[in-house]
Amino acid sequence: MVWPNEDYLKLPGSYLFSTVARKQREFSAAHPDAKIIRLSIGDVTQPLAPVIIEALHKAVDEMASAETFKGYAPDLGYEFLRNVISEKDYKARGCDIAPDEIFVSDGAKGDCGNIQEIFAKDCKVAVCDPVYPVYVDTNVMAGRTGTYDEKTGTWSDVIYMPCTAANGFAPELPKKVPDLIYLCFPNNPTGATITKDQLQVWVDYANKEGAVIIYDAAYEAYISEEDVPHSIYECEGARECAIEIHSFSKNAGFTGVRLGYTVIPKDLKAGNVQLHSLWARRHGTKYNGAPYIIQKAGEAVYTPEGQKQLKEQVAYYMKNAATIRDGLAAAGYTVSGGVNAPYIWLQTPNNMTSWEFFDYLLEKANVVGTPGSGFGPSGEHFFRLTAFGSYENTVEAIQRIKEM
Ligand SMILES: Cc1ncc(COP(=O)(O)O)c(C=O)c1O
Repeated sequence: MVWPNEDYLKLPGSYLFSTVARKQREFSAAHPDAKIIRLSIGDVTQPLAPVIIEALHKAVDEMASAETFKGYAPDLGYEFLRNVISEKDYKARGCDIAPDEIFVSDGAKGDCGNIQEIFAKDCKVAVCDPVYPVYVDTNVMAGRTGTYDEKTGTWSDVIYMPCTAANGFAPELPKKVPDLIYLCFPNNPTGATITKDQLQVWVDYANKEGAVIIYDAAYEAYISEEDVPHSIYECEGARECAIEIHSFSKNAGFTGVRLGYTVIPKDLKAGNVQLHSLWARRHGTKYNGAPYIIQKAGEAVYTPEGQKQLKEQVAYYMKNAATIRDGLAAAGYTVSGGVNAPYIWLQTPNNMTSWEFFDYLLEKANVVGTPGSGFGPSGEHFFRLTAFGSYENTVEAIQRIKEM
């Protein structure tokens, strides 16, 4: 008789996005003429940049001849990609990361979810609240989070670090000492970020306590301010305590193409075990590599033409972000984010709950956003809007919200 993995059964249903979709469907059915604008999506909408399309075509053609055909990719990823990542994302920023410390993957979500496998089951995990749900849910699946309290929406063995208006949506060092600390800056969902000095405090703390930071840098390309670090390895001592995860989804529109990478410096140890070797073992055993064609497209991201085209794409989304942020502020809303991130985090008016505001916005403006409470208890009374729509829709949505 086979039994399911009990830890999976502990997961509460993924109510957030399914409830958002259901409510939108019901509203559309009841109001077939309403032109609904979705500012809820975390997916990009602009097509791939020409330089990437060109690289994809070229790589596809290489697959058509025996001389240039490629089969399985090398375990860590092709050297042409790891070399350019090491040069452009790290050495150019003064960070000492070698190509063989970079593991190419098919995106950040898998890496964010799988990385916990190389740590002991009784490791204590700390997360920001609100948070990208993958970090907690994958630790639930691994049986690391204790019991769930429906009332508070929290797990008994997870250390929550509230990110609230009072602390500028930047977590404070936890009172209980964790073993694994998930940090994501620029942040989804709050759009907040922290300065290099603030991040240095976390690196020093992790080194002092023997903890590991898992640093999710998926939105790094959206950083516009000077003192915001692009990589945790800009901080001194990070090679001894941090893993960094990157995505090509938001900087280059690869959400449907799939590419990412994870950095594990060889200096990083748990006890006297090199975590690099554990992840290499895992990668070699459970993963057969991102496709050659996609890795060639990833290489094109780093060409001068690629950098230029993608800067324009990010600027397009950031113009939307400014439109949302400034428009809402002018309409009297309290807003944050949208400066170094494609997410705008707004406080609901009149102390409405996040879901009350969701219904109100859908009803009055036919605009869909994401209730902050869906990202964690400290997200209650907040709401996330994204800059990933078209400019025209963004302008119209904000106009409608102003007129509510
Ligand atoms: C914080 C964060 N990390 C990782 C991801 C996933 O990125 P990828 O598309 O590379 O899997 C997302 C996607 O929305 C995200 O918001």
